Parts: sequence; C-alpha cells; structure tokens
Amino acid sequence: MLPPVAAVVTMDPKRATCLRSAAYATLVAVYLSVSLVAWNSAPGGERRVELDPLEQAGLQLWREHNCQACHQLHGFGGFLGPDLTNVVTDERSDREFARTLSEGVKQMPAFHFDEEQQASVLAFLRAMDFTGRAEPRPIEARRPLVATEHYRALAELWTERTGGVLPEPAARGLEVWSRQQCGACHVPFARGQFRAPDHSAAAVDRSARHIEELTRTGRGSMPSFQLTGDDVAALSSWLEFVATRRDEWIELDRELVQRDTFSFGDLPWFEYR
Ligand code: HEC
Ligand code: HEC
Repeated sequence: MLPPVAAVVTMDPKRATCLRSAAYATLVAVYLSVSLVAWNSAPGGERRVELDPLEQAGLQLWREHNCQACHQLHGFGGFLGPDLTNVVTDERSDREFARTLSEGVKQMPAFHFDEEQQASVLAFLRAMDFTGRAEPRPIEARRPLVATEHYRALAELWTERTGGVLPEPAARGLEVWSRQQCGACHVPFARGQFRAPDHSAAAVDRSARHIEELTRTGRGSMPSFQLTGDDVAALSSWLEFVATRRDEWIELDRELVQRDTFSFGDLPWFEYR
C-alpha cells in the first residue's frame, strides 16, 4: 500500500526515495508481464508454423501478387474472395485448384504460374491450414433472390424507390410471368438459361401477337404454354413496360443483386463507405 500523497510529502526524504523506487519497480514489472501475456496470445504467437523452403517460396508469391488484397487469412485481408486459411487442406489435391489459379475465377485474375510456383503457393496455403481454424463469418444475404421472382423483386424495389405503381395490365402480366415461371429461363437484362434472350432488348418482339404464337407452339428450348388471350395481352404489356424503363431498371438491378449477395457498404470499415 502506498501512503497518501500528503504523508509522502511530509515523510523523511530517504524513506520517500525508497518508496518511489518501489513504485517504479512495480510499474515496470506490471508493464513487462502485460507485454509478455499480449505477445504470447498474439495470433501464431505460441504455435508459429515453421515454413519449409517450398512454403516460403509460396509466401513470397502470395506477397508479390497481393493475394491478400482479396483473400483473408484468419479474417485479415480484402473481401473480394473467400478466407483461405482452411481452404487448401491435405484433403484436397493441387489439381483441384490448378484451374482457379491459372484461369482465374470471378474477380480473380489468371495467374500464369508454372507448376512449381503453383505447388509452392498451394503448399503455403496448406501450411496456413495448420495455424488453426479461421472463423470467417460470411455476411448473410438479406433476401435470397429466386430466379422466378427476380423481376418481381425489381418491381418492388422500383416502387419502394419512386413510389411508382405498375399500370394494370402490366401488373397482371407480372402475375402471369411468376405463375408460369418464365423467369426460370429469362433473367433481367442478360441472357438466361438455354440462351433465353433478355426480353427488354430492342431486337425482341414483345407484341401480343408474337407472344401468343410463341407460347402456343414453343420454340427451341422454350416450351409451349397454355395461356388465355388475356394472359398474353398482360404479358405483352408487362414486357413492354420493363423495356421502356430498361436503363433505370438496370441500375436498380445492380443494386438488388449486390444487396442480395454482399455489399461493401455493410462492412464497418470506413474505406468502403
Ligand atoms: C482480385 C481479387 C483476387 C485476387 C488478387 C486473388 N484472388 Fe483468389 N479468388 C478470388 C475470388 C473472387 C475467388 C472465387 C470465390 C468463389 O468462387 O466464389 C477466388 C478463389 C480462389 C481460390 C479457390 C478457393 C476455393 O474454395 O476453391 C484459391 C485457392 C485462390 N483464390 C487463391 C488465390 C491466390 C493464391 C492468389 C494470389 C496469387 C489469389 N487467389 C488472388 C479473388 C482474388
Ligand atoms: C425452359 C426455358 C424457358 C421458359 C420457361 C420460357 N422461355 Fe421464352 N425463351 C426461351 C428460349 C431458349 C428462347 C429462345 C428461343 C429461340 O429463338 O430459339 C426464348 C424466347 C422467348 C421470346 C423471344 C422470341 C423471339 O422471337 O425473339 C419471348 C418473347 C419469350 N421467350 C417469352 C417467354 C414467356 C412469356 C415465358 C413464360 C410464359 C417464357 N418465355 C418462358 C426459353 C424459355
């Protein structure tokens, strides 16, 4: 116990010096032990993996090519690709990753590694698997996007944003579209399953006459449907309605697709704001 300040001030100088030294010594001891605890519990502090030369070479490539800009190890790194701490494991062969590395995937560029380089970067990642389990927590999709409901989700987002209301025949057309599951093949603003065309493209004939004939007979991979004249007219209005708002809806769609998978805006770090 240190005596109160007043007591120290009035104390005999020799005793005061002694007490001061004791206080300093205690502070230094506390500082050292806290440092020791922190150092010991730092990631990898106690079970640091020794990398062999092949793995070292892999680490070098990992750094040179900035893999961590997109991938994480134990949650640290960029977020364009998955956490790779426990992905390349003893249970998976190099061959499984060869294609990803040499041809790229999604945002990942092709890395033209020779076989040895490829083996080394994978050996390095395999070594990472021994550093413990990473616990990446994927950001959950807020609303999984079902293909057949994709257009409906877009229409809802449009209403939410602009307060717009679908005009009557178009709204009914959207109902028919959902009920008949046209969206299983036709996706907004891109070619879909079986190369089904984007309905809003200028070259597509959306007239009721054409849709009537097409749905009655089917064509190529597109099956035939049993629709009433009313259904067909409604479908035609719906598709025409989307086509006239193509540019605006393409923007909305980008937002919708982003929101359904992952949004940088959801990350708590300022650089993504
Ligand atoms: C520009 C971003 C980017 C960079 C840089 C990048 N990757 Fe990727 N990587 C990705 C994405 C995106 C995926 C695919 C995730 C998916 O399939 O959903 C991926 C996938 C992988 C996979 C496959 C994971 C699996 O589960 O099959 C491996 C292995 C991998 N990357 C290794 C690397 C290595 C090694 C480097 C550096 C030499 C690297 N990546 C650099 C974005 C990147
Ligand atoms: C099983 C997949 C599939 C489904 C379901 C489907 N389509 Fe198609 N659709 C296609 C394919 C494939 C084409 C391209 C056909 C071709 O030209 O060979 C196409 C073409 C079209 C075209 C353009 C034809 C042209 O002349 O340019 C329209 C319009 C169309 N579909 C409307 C619909 C409607 C409306 C529905 C729902 C009632 C629907 N499709 C359901 C696969 C599908």
